Amino acid sequence: MTNYQTVAPDETQLRDGTIKLHGPEAFAGMRRAGRLAAENLDALAGRVVPGVTTQALDDFVREFTLDNGAVPATLGYRGYAHSCCISINHVVCHGIPSERTLKDGDIVNIDVTPLLDGWHGDSSRMFLVGDVPLKARRLVDVTYECLMLGVGQAKPGARLGDIGAAIQRHAEANRYGVVREFCGHGVGRLFHDAPEVVHAAKAGTGPEMVPGMFFTIEPMINLGKSPVKLLEDGWTAVTRDRSLSAQFEHTVGITEDGCEVFTLSPKGLDKPPY
Ligand code: MF3
Ligand code: CO
Ligand code: CO
Repeated sequence: MTNYQTVAPDETQLRDGTIKLHGPEAFAGMRRAGRLAAENLDALAGRVVPGVTTQALDDFVREFTLDNGAVPATLGYRGYAHSCCISINHVVCHGIPSERTLKDGDIVNIDVTPLLDGWHGDSSRMFLVGDVPLKARRLVDVTYECLMLGVGQAKPGARLGDIGAAIQRHAEANRYGVVREFCGHGVGRLFHDAPEVVHAAKAGTGPEMVPGMFFTIEPMINLGKSPVKLLEDGWTAVTRDRSLSAQFEHTVGITEDGCEVFTLSPKGLDKPPY
């Protein structure tokens, strides 16, 4: 059973399993938070280069976020001590910024979540470091296509499973594997809320999408069919066989006739090359 709850923009919201339905004021808040996430990723474009440390990129994300009147939602979230996640090559998600330097040929996901005036804008993009082999670039391209095919299914009356079905179909047509261990999520005043948005599913299943729903779509697609394992640090998720993994993420809101993508790049830099 799916429970929806219409919420006022300033109402305290609980992680009680209900799917929140928001009004125009909340859309305005999410538009601003989402835009800031996108602008932060735009500003990273020229900085993800060989030799830079992922900690330096995290410092940039923190400063950019604070300078724009927001707070990185990941900072202090369940003990996480950084302003973004940076996931290189075989890291599937939640890579922790460190003194490691990027090298020519790396593919890198940077995932930012500014919390602006109480609203979360959650988005990630892939970045190509220097010369990236065709095989890796293809994975990145197809992963972006998967995200946008999922976004294309986000409309009132459709089911959340339609999103996963579109993503899975495209990934598997390219002989890639869809990560099952992590999913998209409801978002808004809360960072991670109901519903779960899975990236592999049967069409016509799952909760119906209703105007006013906010959630992320964030497919992780692997070059192989390898299982995912968690490293000792409790955060870093990797492919067990070290095969490459890619991810893109948008935050969307369901409207009367489709969806609004809150995290689109104002500069059109939604995917590489930037
Ligand atoms: N931004 C991530 C997501 O897309 C969550 C990161 S939580 C952290 O849901 F603690 F790992 F940073
Ligand atoms: Co997310
Ligand atoms: Co994210």
